[in-house]
Amino acid sequence: ERPVTLHELAKMRAEGRKIAMLTCYDASFAALLERCGVDMLLIGDSLGNTIQGHSSTLPVTIEQMAYHTACVARGCSRPMIVADMSFGSYQESPAQAMRNAASLMAAGAQMVKLEGGAYMAETVRFLVERGVPVCAHIGLTPQSVHQLGGYRIQGKTDESARRLFEDARALEDAGASLLTLEMVPADLATEVTRSLTRMATIGIGAGKDTDGQVLVLHDMLGIYPGRTARFVRNFMEGAPSIEAAVTAYVEAVRNQSFPAPEHCY
Ligand code: KIV
Ligand code: NA
Repeated sequence: ERPVTLHELAKMRAEGRKIAMLTCYDASFAALLERCGVDMLLIGDSLGNTIQGHSSTLPVTIEQMAYHTACVARGCSRPMIVADMSFGSYQESPAQAMRNAASLMAAGAQMVKLEGGAYMAETVRFLVERGVPVCAHIGLTPQSVHQLGGYRIQGKTDESARRLFEDARALEDAGASLLTLEMVPADLATEVTRSLTRMATIGIGAGKDTDGQVLVLHDMLGIYPGRTARFVRNFMEGAPSIEAAVTAYVEAVRNQSFPAPEHCY
């Protein structure tokens, strides 16, 4: 099958075909997720939790992100590979972001993801103009957990909802290809998605009307030992194998049966 490119993503968005994304941290799972039809693999800095056992994503380094990106890239060929920029690897300046994004691209990433709203627009533009596709990430941004005061729903007040629209607009104008919306009310995510003209939205705890969905692999397989959020569904329940569970996830994203109302805010 043809590799998933920016062109293909734009087509999926235009045709209303939902994008199925999962996190992935190694080659064996990359091959498995590819076989199940997952469109995009995210080397998330959630590996700080799932792989390293930390209680946040803050300790993860860019070298560790590059290592896991290379592992994933060796395992598959069709899915688009998106790598998270780790905390502290892009906030200083566009030049710092470019230097560290380059290490992820050299490791096999085809897009980098970074957290933050309008204030990151200058950096997004800098990367995009230099050949690095960008996925932005707003709403609950786990690298800001201490500033946010916990892992809680965002965009609940009129003021923060308005800021979410402004952030999305600024990031789209700066050239971001994709926007992750995490833990925001479903209605708000629907409106933000509709307000955009080009950038596709990927939801996690953001309702079923975003252009795609993402979950942390260990959460959707029910193997994360910590607490999981309301938006998680354990696809291993009733599934005879990991492949069946992942295939069910892809199918549920495509037919919009996931997320169901009980997974939404
Ligand atoms: O690190 C991660 O896994 C993520 C997704 C949950 C969006 O950023
Ligand atoms: Na992340």
